[in-house]
Amino acid sequence: MRISQLVLCVMLLLVPFAANHAQQDQPSITQLLNEPFLDDYYSNVVYGYEIVTNTQEHASRYVGNSLNCSNCHLQAGTQKDALPLNVAGMYPKWRAKNGKRNGIGLRIRECFLYSMDGIMPTEDAPEVLAIAAYITYLSQGQVLGAEPEGRGVPTIPDTGYDPNPANGRAVYLAQCASCHGQQGKGLGQMPAVWGGDSYNKGAGMNRIQMAAGFIWANMPLGNAKSLSYQQALDVSAYLNLQYRPADPNDSKFLKLLEHLIN
Ligand code: HEC
Ligand code: HEC
Repeated sequence: MRISQLVLCVMLLLVPFAANHAQQDQPSITQLLNEPFLDDYYSNVVYGYEIVTNTQEHASRYVGNSLNCSNCHLQAGTQKDALPLNVAGMYPKWRAKNGKRNGIGLRIRECFLYSMDGIMPTEDAPEVLAIAAYITYLSQGQVLGAEPEGRGVPTIPDTGYDPNPANGRAVYLAQCASCHGQQGKGLGQMPAVWGGDSYNKGAGMNRIQMAAGFIWANMPLGNAKSLSYQQALDVSAYLNLQYRPADPNDSKFLKLLEHLIN
């Protein structure tokens, strides 16, 4: 074998290792959880992961309902079409909802205020910084500024019919109540979808299109994409009619009363 052939063989042998190395750049969360010692960055990433998956325990001081971030950001924020959190490269970004340019920190804090029906942590709260570190970790490999595949939820195409809450009630009772309860409060470990322990009226999930996209792509859990687009719209319209905490922007006084009653 000539020298040049030998060099080529060795290079070809090394290729898989090189590729492997690129993929393994970043330890998995399971690996990190088993490490006896973590540097500052990774300990923050793990803390962020813990808050996202068990918000009730790790960020309770900011939470007003019984949800965890991962009840909506499925699989700890790693699932496409289920509001994945690998979006660090998309911020800062203009947002119509609050009429200003949002950094990832504000985006996190707003989900506490609306989706978690809680209070907004300060910008430098350790919980916010940890979640931001986790979001950065999840975003490794994404192209900065480019929309990650499966971001948000799918857009439900126009069906030609208005969302019909009466039909939605029938869908709910047949396909959702077994887990989320007839009264929407959730059964056992299953999260509430309305009532005092659910997201409030200012939350993204309270918009029919958004909820329909989430529900169509992910619910009923274990049998996703089995509803028609119209059924997803109808059941979202039904969820929207139920009682849930007020939008905190509507009235601070109402908000106070709700907390006294609940
Ligand atoms: C009730 C469901 C729900 C819960 C619980 C929830 N979120 Fe969200 N989150 C959403 C929805 C819906 C959106 C998209 C909203 C929009 O675009 O207006 C979103 C968007 C986000 C985004 C921006 C995603 C993107 O694509 O740019 C971040 C970051 C985020 N949430 C973080 C969190 C964190 C952290 C928690 C827990 C403290 C949390 N969320 C809890 C529903 C939820
Ligand atoms: C087999 C049980 C099951 C069924 C049936 C089911 N869900 Fe869910 N749903 C869940 C679980 C569990 C979660 C939270 C997922 C997680 O934490 O990983 C969830 C999350 C949700 C959420 C976001 C979190 C929240 O509580 O607001 C909504 C909205 C939702 N489901 C609506 C529905 C609708 C509408 C249906 C019927 C079409 C349905 N689900 C059927 C188990 C179920």
